[in-house]
Amino acid sequence: MRISVIGCGYLGAVHAACMAELGHEVVGIDVDERKVAELSAGRAPFFEPGLPEVLGRALDSGRLRFSTDLADAAGAEVHFVAVGTPQTKGSHAADLTYVDAAVEGLLPYLSDGDLVVGKSTVPVGTASRLSELVRASSGADLAWNPEFLREGFAVKDTLTPDRFVYGVARGETGERAAAQLDAVYATALAAETPRLVTDYATAELVKVSANAFLATKISFINAMAEVAEATGADVTQLADAIGYDARIGRKFLNAGIGFGGGCLPKDIRAFQARADELGLDSLAFLADVDAINLRRRDRVVALAGELVGDLAGARVAVLGLAFKPNSDDVRDSPALDVARRLRASGAIVTAFDPEANATAGRVAPELEYATDVESALRDADVVLVLTEWTEFRELDPAVVAGLVSHARVVDGRNTLDSVAWRAAGFDYRGLGRP
Ligand code: UDX
Repeated sequence: MRISVIGCGYLGAVHAACMAELGHEVVGIDVDERKVAELSAGRAPFFEPGLPEVLGRALDSGRLRFSTDLADAAGAEVHFVAVGTPQTKGSHAADLTYVDAAVEGLLPYLSDGDLVVGKSTVPVGTASRLSELVRASSGADLAWNPEFLREGFAVKDTLTPDRFVYGVARGETGERAAAQLDAVYATALAAETPRLVTDYATAELVKVSANAFLATKISFINAMAEVAEATGADVTQLADAIGYDARIGRKFLNAGIGFGGGCLPKDIRAFQARADELGLDSLAFLADVDAINLRRRDRVVALAGELVGDLAGARVAVLGLAFKPNSDDVRDSPALDVARRLRASGAIVTAFDPEANATAGRVAPELEYATDVESALRDADVVLVLTEWTEFRELDPAVVAGLVSHARVVDGRNTLDSVAWRAAGFDYRGLGRP
């Protein structure tokens, strides 16, 4: 099948490469010339495990190409819209400028029977509005097919997702759209991946409610961390114990400095903003979810301050800048935010991330970046582990003790072995742990 993918960011670049891997003929289109040049040369513009390999194979096969010209979408039967929906400046609502521009830009190149497929995360109501636009100006139709991929596992999540959700129009046009998507995803469907066909509003809501649920789960355990801190309990044991209840489950119950990234924070804010527009109080609790999450950053800065006495002039080693491991993404990263706050409090911050030094350096040039973990640790008065990279989890506390000037550590992700670090002489502080 001939496919176009509009927008080649974290979502679109992976989607384009994976669709070609599945045997489709794909053109990825993006306005960013540099990104298109990088992708055309087989280089992923961001760190994503497995992507360079899939990209290389797809380009070699001749089934994948990239372009800056929307006219190159002409001739494809299915057009995926995978552009960003960032938070609007000065408001919590989603900024739909790029989605609107992509769909409007596609209109002249659509043929009868084509299907425009929205993958971007949008406020409920968007698909219905855009479907009218598409139908009014072409013989094409529109479906909404939300994407649930996790950064760090994007290739796997795209090739073998948990489920497919198709939001389609009612009646025959919707059935035809579902059949077109079935043809696109034939490989995964043959492996019995669940597939739900819904109306537009449900499909849009599935995505934002999934992210709201995950954010709530993380903030729930971080709220328990606050209670644990006040009572001397250990939130990691609490999470293990409640996680054995299959109805609760242990996943997404890791307390620490909280969630960040390009999705969860902005999506829960946009979801609340949309509920407000609809005159609903139903999502008011998401303001607490957001607030609990942001308070964790204050807590970790306070813990570092407690350990060194005065942050001004203290040498702080920050290990981790990405919003999570196996990613170089620092969008709304709690780790980078904490590093910048420490610096703003007068600390001398030396940061190191195995992949995110460069992306962090572009937004936070005021920080010092070390080229390896040892140089970040050398002579530190306190060490903060803020992203749970394997490299940090596997640090030998005895070796670290030999590098730092004071053996103090804040485990912002509750990822270190507290017994081993204490045995090596460290004043160890976890989040929500005694
Ligand atoms: C998320 C959703 O998981 C994905 O389905 C959706 O499509 C996009 O948003 P992603 O942003 O890649 O994916 O990251 P995710 O793995 O969900 O982690 C989000 C944040 O939560 C990270 O900052 C992570 O460190 C944090 N987190 C996760 C916790 O603080 N505790 C946990 O237990 C789990």
